[in-house]
Amino acid sequence: MMSLVVDCDPGCDDAIAILLALRHANVKAITTVSGNVPLAQSTENALMTVAVANVETPVYAGASKPLKGPQISNDVSHGSDGLGGLHRFSHSRTSESASACDFLLECVSKDDWVIALGPLTNLAEALARDSEWGKRIGGISIMGGSTSIGNITPVAEFNVFADPHAAAKVYTSGARLKMCGLNLTHQLEVTNETVTLISELGTEKSTFVASLLKFLLNRAEKMIRSRWAPLHDPCAVLAVTHPTLFQFEEYFVEVETQGTLTSGMTVIDQRTTRPRLLPNTLVATQIDATRAIEVLVDSLETQ
Ligand code: BDR
Ligand code: CA
Repeated sequence: MMSLVVDCDPGCDDAIAILLALRHANVKAITTVSGNVPLAQSTENALMTVAVANVETPVYAGASKPLKGPQISNDVSHGSDGLGGLHRFSHSRTSESASACDFLLECVSKDDWVIALGPLTNLAEALARDSEWGKRIGGISIMGGSTSIGNITPVAEFNVFADPHAAAKVYTSGARLKMCGLNLTHQLEVTNETVTLISELGTEKSTFVASLLKFLLNRAEKMIRSRWAPLHDPCAVLAVTHPTLFQFEEYFVEVETQGTLTSGMTVIDQRTTRPRLLPNTLVATQIDATRAIEVLVDSLETQ
């Protein structure tokens, strides 16, 4: 089994990704960051998710604001509590006393992958303290960026836009990187049938996930008048636990931090008319979505 640390800002799809990771990997810890919701709420949501899964995985709270610039949230997409406000599970868990950054620096080794599902602030803080950190770990699988359109702006994806300076640091860190951007995550769609399949499993985890998915579909219906919702964050878990479900291409990826129109854009060298810059990232371009949904459903079957 792969050994992972999940760095996240739950977030409906983050919570689903955590459950998927817990089923298919040895999750050493969960580290949290401010993103979809402020840090205190994202940490509480991570604690609640491990309680739903009935595991003892430790949770370390991390950065409460980006390296630079204003903090932006995404409660439009995930509800004011980050988990659609639908299913609060009572628990008495608390986060660890050490910080996410200390944990990443001290406890992540070459055998561990970090799955990055939120703004990349915690990872950038680790790199600021030890510029070689990225080269000392197994790798980083990022849900962030896009080879094509954005979501929070026409060209920027939320996680990168929320802390572009941190993302720039991670993409140029020399770490082994996998990127699941919007070009990929938009291929992993949730439908009403997915929700029905998951609801019918009747486990604590499946009830929780079904409520999150219903929230995402209802929100999509209101916002875009279509019951269409991409499952972003689970892709970055699967890219490590189930790499054969993917096609990857190697590219050089950088992040724009200055542009007034393009801040947070991932600039990817896909030129065909000139020699490209040396690649730094395995960019996921295709996913077997049918099989990926099967893996997700299977992972919710047991209590
Ligand atoms: C990313 O932003 C968040 O809203 C999701 O959790 C995902 O990590 C998609 O742009
Ligand atoms: Ca996320």
